[in-house]
Amino acid sequence: MAFDFIHAGLQEKQEAGYLRERVCIEYEKDAIICINGEHYLNFASNDYLGMRQHHGVLQSWVEGLAQFGGGSGASPLVTGYTQAHCALESYLEEHLQREAVLLFNSGFAANQAICQALLKSDVQVFVDRYMHASFLDGVMAGKAKFKRYNHNDKQQLSSLLAASSGDKLVATEGIFSMDGDAAPVRDMAEMCRQHDAWLMLDDAHGFGVFGDNGLGTVEQYQLSQQDAPLVMGTFGKAVGTAGAFVAGSQSLVEYLINHARHYIYSTSIPASQAVATLFSLTAISTGNERERLKSNIAFFREQVQQHGFDILPSESAIQPLIIGDPNKAMAFSAQLRQRGIWVPAIRYPTVPKGSDRLRITLSAQHVEKDISVLVDALALARDSV
Ligand SMILES: Cc1ncc(COP(=O)(O)O)c(C=O)c1O
Repeated sequence: MAFDFIHAGLQEKQEAGYLRERVCIEYEKDAIICINGEHYLNFASNDYLGMRQHHGVLQSWVEGLAQFGGGSGASPLVTGYTQAHCALESYLEEHLQREAVLLFNSGFAANQAICQALLKSDVQVFVDRYMHASFLDGVMAGKAKFKRYNHNDKQQLSSLLAASSGDKLVATEGIFSMDGDAAPVRDMAEMCRQHDAWLMLDDAHGFGVFGDNGLGTVEQYQLSQQDAPLVMGTFGKAVGTAGAFVAGSQSLVEYLINHARHYIYSTSIPASQAVATLFSLTAISTGNERERLKSNIAFFREQVQQHGFDILPSESAIQPLIIGDPNKAMAFSAQLRQRGIWVPAIRYPTVPKGSDRLRITLSAQHVEKDISVLVDALALARDSV
């Protein structure tokens, strides 16, 4: 039979405990989600600041719809590039202190575009072992020579850079999506400068949260365009909308406009989405959401450690609890569900084999009582898994 591998592939996943399934959210308010008629406290969202439900973000989105209509109607090089897209790019250029910014439909598309347009066969790429699939897949699909260095291993990276020549790109996340820890970006920028390499920063999970105005790792560590010539950030997580951007030099952005197929051959994000994204960024810079998130992170870490859990050293909203076995992680997650807590198990291949985990994410929308309920449920689940 044709495409026999589909059935076999699904069976293989099922037997190994790695079959993925979706859940349909019926209703959502603040940190509560409703699934199959049951309500849960949501500790699984990347909406770290609660901006998805921010009144001003929703209102500006509606105003954007009234002004620009529904979809953008064309790719950006045809008629899909409006004043709203331009204003969002300008805000990012000014605040990130970059010459130019380009918007993409998603972080996945932006990472793929970077790889497709820039990673020629004579480029050497050094990628953190924990780098997101959207970048790794892009590198692997291309012709560039690449090596994965051990997670945040500056020494190994330094030796690799010293032994290489030609155009070099070092790719890291600002805040790692599954571990929540930060890359040593200042040291990495210095190392790249010494070896004439470009630092590429995927700040999907730092953007919106860190820095004086919430502009992420670049702002927090004052990384200039020279320090990090290539920055990618997403709007679908802390900013609460969707889409992504690449920031860098004027020539880099012009090159992408002319070579990045994900940009050229795709309908641009709706203008209303750009309006809401810009509103969200300005609201984040003046609001208290980041402070609330920070105190929730501190409270969670204190509580969970008091209950004897070994937790990874993360100062971000991502607080993983390593379980180490896919079936046990699923059972742990199911136990939490029975107690009204939604935390999915994240398993191989999203994370390395043997590091299957609960990926707990905190938000400014949680209150301390929510977090206490979570920690109590974790302790009870531990005793029964
Ligand atoms: C580190 C990282 N980069 C890129 C992406 C892709 O971004 P988007 O969801 O906007 O496609 C994600 C999404 O999970 C991510 O975690």
